[in-house]
Amino acid sequence: MSDSTSNITIERKHSHVEICLHDDIAFNSKNTGFEKFEFEHNALPEICFSNIDLSTTFLDKRIGAPFMISSMTGGYSEAATLNRHLAETAEHFSIPLGVGSMRQALENSSYRDSFAIVRKYAPSVQIFANIGAPEIAKGLTDLEINILLELLEADGLIVHLNAAQELFQPEGNTDFKHFLQQLSIITAKIPVPVIAKEVGCGISASAALKLIEAGVKVIDVAGAGGISWQKVEEIRYTRQFGHDTRFSTPALEELLNWGIPTAQCLLDINTLKKEHPEFRNTEIIASGGIQSGIDIAKSLALGAQLAASAKYVLKALHQGTLEETIKTWLNDLRAVMFLTGSASIEQLRNKSLIIKQ
Ligand SMILES: Cc1cc2nc3c(=O)[nH]c(=O)nc-3n(C[C@H](O)[C@H](O)[C@H](O)COP(=O)(O)O)c2cc1C
Repeated sequence: MSDSTSNITIERKHSHVEICLHDDIAFNSKNTGFEKFEFEHNALPEICFSNIDLSTTFLDKRIGAPFMISSMTGGYSEAATLNRHLAETAEHFSIPLGVGSMRQALENSSYRDSFAIVRKYAPSVQIFANIGAPEIAKGLTDLEINILLELLEADGLIVHLNAAQELFQPEGNTDFKHFLQQLSIITAKIPVPVIAKEVGCGISASAALKLIEAGVKVIDVAGAGGISWQKVEEIRYTRQFGHDTRFSTPALEELLNWGIPTAQCLLDINTLKKEHPEFRNTEIIASGGIQSGIDIAKSLALGAQLAASAKYVLKALHQGTLEETIKTWLNDLRAVMFLTGSASIEQLRNKSLIIKQ
């Protein structure tokens, strides 16, 4: 791997965090879709608030709450501190954690510690390795797979599908040919489950079907309504090249807002699961714009096993309020459980949502 390729990867990972913290990267014309739903109020909860149990399972392991810290970073010097804090928080709440793309760790060994640190500070929770679809499409060697999994003692491998991000990225890799074929080889070969996730454009039912058939055990929808990664890369592009002349003005606006809202992905994949009883063990993660415990609760009622967040976790970490923020979100969730008469997460999952008038 050339030094310049490796330096670009390091610059990119660093600038992603900076841009997500300081720039406007929200969708202009799209929300998550959660705002269209509400729970039916239960005037007779018949439960005690203080006994509400937030624990649940994910991939056969008991976890403290139906929430996960989404994949974000690693692969440059400051990333070690961020990952250490994320790991400490995951351990504190007994919730799963994903690290950012580990492509840099495959390119050279210089910042592998920035990934490995999470296992040190989160010894007992599920930790997920992460690699992008273009790397899978190229084919990973056994040695590369071992580096990804062993650095973290990973409980699974997250493969991120980011076609729109790569399309906008100044140095993007848009060769996704043979991805599904290569993915099937990996899911058959590795000893841990594979999670397929988008990064903000969502996963449709038909894409989910192909992923499940390729051996994927968990789908993280990462739908539209949170960060537009097209916008993040557009900012990097215009900083490098000035005005973006790659697309016409009306197309640019539509492409920056491209994607399936998170709640829509959940509805469609839930329907798919009902039509295919053989997929009942496929677990769904709701992410893309999650910003409260109410969003977590609605995610569960729409069929998700848990919800996950990146942007608001990063912002709270930056402000030194990450534990407080998660505590507040879990209290939001408890409030919804109380008002719907759900003493457990399983009971909440069986509540139906009504479409707001
Ligand atoms: C700074 C930052 C870096 C990210 N890097 C990765 C990555 O390397 N791999 C990945 O799968 N997702 C990455 N993501 C995407 C998130 O995991 C998530 O799918 C996406 O941001 C949507 O969730 P959100 O709306 O809660 O942010 C990153 C997110 C942030 C904020």
